[in-house]
Amino acid sequence: MVSPASGRVRVAILISGAGSNMAALIDAASAADAPFEVVGVISNDPAAGGLAIAAAHGVPVAAVDHRPFGKDREAHEAAIQRHLDDWSVEVVVLAGYMRLLTPWLVRRWAGRMLNIHPSLLPKYPGLDTHARALAAGDTEAGCTVHLVTEGVDEGPVLGQSRVPIVPGDSPASLAERVRVAEHTLYPQVLADLCQTRIASL
Ligand code: GRF
Repeated sequence: MVSPASGRVRVAILISGAGSNMAALIDAASAADAPFEVVGVISNDPAAGGLAIAAAHGVPVAAVDHRPFGKDREAHEAAIQRHLDDWSVEVVVLAGYMRLLTPWLVRRWAGRMLNIHPSLLPKYPGLDTHARALAAGDTEAGCTVHLVTEGVDEGPVLGQSRVPIVPGDSPASLAERVRVAEHTLYPQVLADLCQTRIASL
């Protein structure tokens, strides 16, 4: 839902790691005219560094460890969904969330769940995108924000940002250049989506 007090779309972020994209989104939400607010951050890894960053910004956090659920992915997702319900979340943003989602959760959030992927999709879905771009001799790389559908990294593209590949690049140096681009692209695309949702109310 949209918060009655602020008129902003209520966004939750799912992470598994450092949370640099999450931090960029929290930062963007602090702008006076931001059309979204970050109402919670969830990690499947209780040790994820992003949880402390979010908490330091006053954002509610939840660690929903996937390990006690074993192979029962839906039960793990149901535990996540309970937090999303508690926070009255309208849009879910995956930011380095490293679990594959089941159709149960994906269908529930159809059109309202975004992901960012460090390649120019449809090139290089899945892992090791930077090494694959370098091995292919590509001259540019980038990142993609897309809606989440049941196929991995397959949903409709909402925005892309391109960066050059330069001589001597390693997967690590390219990843760093792409990540900087992600931190601008993700808040922009999320803001566009939320503006559209607010305008349609
Ligand atoms: C980013 O490169 C993103 O594209 C991918 O996972 C990484 C997350 O990094 N999905 P961070 O945790 O946001 O720093």
